Amino acid sequence: MLQKFDPRNRDLIVNVNGKLTHRDAASVSPFDSVVQGGDAVWEGLRLYQGRIFRLEQHLDRLVSSAKALAFAHIPMREAIVTEIRRTLEANGMFDGVHIRLTLTRGVKVTSGMDPRLNQSGSTLIVLAEHKPPVYSTEGLTLVTSSVRRFPPDCLDPRIHHNNLLQSILAKIEANVAGADDAVMLDTRGFIAETNATHVFIVDRGRVLTPRVVACPEGVTRAAVLELCLANGIPFEERDLSLTEAYRADEMFCSGTMGELAAVTRLDGRVIGDGQPGPMTRRLSLHFKEMTGREGTVVAPQAYTGAGPSPHVALPCHRGHQEQV
Ligand SMILES: Cc1ncc(COP(=O)(O)O)c(C=O)c1O
Repeated sequence: MLQKFDPRNRDLIVNVNGKLTHRDAASVSPFDSVVQGGDAVWEGLRLYQGRIFRLEQHLDRLVSSAKALAFAHIPMREAIVTEIRRTLEANGMFDGVHIRLTLTRGVKVTSGMDPRLNQSGSTLIVLAEHKPPVYSTEGLTLVTSSVRRFPPDCLDPRIHHNNLLQSILAKIEANVAGADDAVMLDTRGFIAETNATHVFIVDRGRVLTPRVVACPEGVTRAAVLELCLANGIPFEERDLSLTEAYRADEMFCSGTMGELAAVTRLDGRVIGDGQPGPMTRRLSLHFKEMTGREGTVVAPQAYTGAGPSPHVALPCHRGHQEQV
């Protein structure tokens, strides 16, 4: 699956620290921590009919990741939401939109990795694009990558950070193999997730998924488990081996970028009968219903042509953390 350029995004307005600029003119300093060391945290959000699905949970993960990385300046949630609103308004966006929210440790006084070189606050980037869910609904083909996910004592997956090289290396392996994405194992050899999504299998009516040890906490993953609970579908979070996936009745993956997507081939094995299965279809329908009724209103109506609202300096939790 290769995403394509969407011409609706040609003249996007992007938001860097409150400054709204055409995509071709937007800039991030070469001294910014994200350039210097990938020192940033991020979230992918999805806008449905003017509402962001599970905005609070996404902000929880962003803020707690920044706290774990000891960012000295973390903008207040309301300030982040204001910048999201301004960006959507500037682009006249209402539905079918993916928002990449990035918070970096900020600009450094000189090149280097030491966080004490950051003396002017964090950088908040809001990039909103017209982007419907990216995965095919026909069923994905996956291969298992040779690149493992870190355990918490290496780099805790609970920190949702911008160092995506493990995922990128795994994605390259998938590309070379002609697959859509790659399954990634933890260092014990159990399934962690894919390069971009959480993984579920269905075994005799039970939905099984790895525990949050080697995979990050997932907003869509949590929603799927809630849907199982609400609809009397048995589920379990436990270690899963590749063999269990090969012989599963169904397999699917989840994430904000692509919602729920069936996996029908893994490492040359056909999963189930090679078609998206009944549990995947059922949970996808419940998820669609959920995104249709839930969410925080950020774009109250379809674009009216009113210009963007003015920027007010980003209020921060100043001194939130000791500078380390
Ligand atoms: C590595 C990784 N796995 C899975 C996911 C899916 O998580 P979510 O459902 O919160 O979008 C993401 C999303 O950012 C991710 O970065």
